[in-house]
Amino acid sequence: HTHENFLQCMTLRSENSSSISKLIYTPSNSSYSSVLQFSIQNPRFSTPATPKPLVIVTPSHVSHIQAAINCSQTHGLQIRVRSGGHDYEGLSYVSDVPFVLIDLIDFRSISVDAENGTAWVQAGATTGEVYYRIAEKSRSLGFPAGICTTLGVGGHFSGGGYGAMLRKYGLAADNIIDAQLVDVKGRILDRASMGEDLFWAIRGGGGASFGIILSWKIKLVHVPSTVTVFTVNRNLEQNATKLVHRWQYVSAKFHEDLFVRVTLTSVNSSQEGKRTIQASFDSLYLGGIDKLLPMMQESFPELGLMREDCIEMSWIESILYFAAFRSGESLEVLLNRTPPIRYHFKGKSDYVQEPIPELGLEGIWQRFSEKEGETGLIVMTPYGGRMNEISESATPFPHRAGNIYKVYYAVFWEEEETAASERYISWIRRLYGYMAPYVSKSPRAAYVNYRDLDIGTNGKGNTSYRRASIWGSKYFKTNFDRLVQVKTLVDPANIFQNEQSIPPFSSGW
Ligand code: FDA
Repeated sequence: HTHENFLQCMTLRSENSSSISKLIYTPSNSSYSSVLQFSIQNPRFSTPATPKPLVIVTPSHVSHIQAAINCSQTHGLQIRVRSGGHDYEGLSYVSDVPFVLIDLIDFRSISVDAENGTAWVQAGATTGEVYYRIAEKSRSLGFPAGICTTLGVGGHFSGGGYGAMLRKYGLAADNIIDAQLVDVKGRILDRASMGEDLFWAIRGGGGASFGIILSWKIKLVHVPSTVTVFTVNRNLEQNATKLVHRWQYVSAKFHEDLFVRVTLTSVNSSQEGKRTIQASFDSLYLGGIDKLLPMMQESFPELGLMREDCIEMSWIESILYFAAFRSGESLEVLLNRTPPIRYHFKGKSDYVQEPIPELGLEGIWQRFSEKEGETGLIVMTPYGGRMNEISESATPFPHRAGNIYKVYYAVFWEEEETAASERYISWIRRLYGYMAPYVSKSPRAAYVNYRDLDIGTNGKGNTSYRRASIWGSKYFKTNFDRLVQVKTLVDPANIFQNEQSIPPFSSGW
């Protein structure tokens, strides 16, 4: 009867208790399942065997969040918080102990102050909604966050958050100037009252370890009235190996207004029955074609970029372009929270500091020619520019100067059976194993927003500092220790915990 007691507690503790019953869902409620499913982005964590929350709360007022934090502790329930539900390992909505899901889907107002170039954004808003609301007020302002437009800013900004403007403006987290959070005691804190250590921790330390983030105040950035995009595809017969090899030497050194990433996939070649690797070079340039062409001609002539490959558009249209919406689609599509298709997937990440030799790239192509590799994907995102100027300890996100690009690996599948999942996951683990000699070492770094439980977990019960530092040093390098210090101060009893949450020192060594 824990959930009945929890419900009673919520009614007693909420200021707006008359409306509270409409915001709480238990499995006996007919909408429970659809509310739970709505923001599950990876169907791998939506099977009959997946543990489900005892109760879902969809707060519309901060008092509901305060009450939920309080009542969960009173009744011994773990808390999971979900904003956009994109967590790669489903940590925002799955736990194997009895838990309450606080889903911030209705906590998503956005207020843009174009005059001062700032905005307050509630945690449940998506990146698409943020971009849309900015463009509504001003076409010379933008924000450097994720390429996917359904990401929740609660999780996305707290793990760093990058998009096509990272070489110019850094990460979303680098452009946060204030925040509001509810702590374990139910207090509402802002930057001044939480202090600089906690404010530092939530800008890249990953959501969920320190409290529930209510909203962010962000600094908007300047975008020109015209930007240029292009996508140039080259397969192995069209020199892809040499081009990707060369790209590694130039992409982190381009002018910071120029972003050219590479996506590698296995595709059918023009020859029947044969497959090949396609390298897709897609780009955002913060300026017009006339400046872009000579720049590319000088630094990367091998790609053979032509004027016809380039399209000039507004920055907000480039958001749609990168999010792969059809051209001519209206901007309102940015307000849609549901991605068109949801596949089962597994993702991983790496950082590259020295260019990979051609022979090394050819080994990647070989992995892609395996059966499971047909739905594999690698995205190489160039660093350099602004990313080099920000110090490793400015935020918990430590992957700055010295990295030429980040690698994102993913594999997708439709089959429901566990055996199929195992085959695809084993493929991506083999690929990751193959990459070890070519990527960062000691520690082999990873991006916390591409959460990967393969690199280590806290284990059940109270985790030790030593065990957590295995995965923690990969995401945060030496910033992990400062995150542990902040955690020890703000949540010593480790109320906000998951398989990869920052542990307090009190949990032991
Ligand atoms: P979700 O709600 O699952 O939360 C993620 C984590 O943050 C969980 O641990 C959760 O508990 C915690 N959390 C969420 N809200 C919180 C809150 N208000 N307070 C405290 N903790 C909170 N990344 C990127 O940098 N650039 C990109 O372009 C993309 N693209 C992309 C595409 C797709 C299809 C996916 C699935 C993912 C990405 N990502 C990405 C990764 C993305 O940044 C990462 O998954 C974010 O954590 C997603 O945040 P959500 O709020 O959507 O997730």
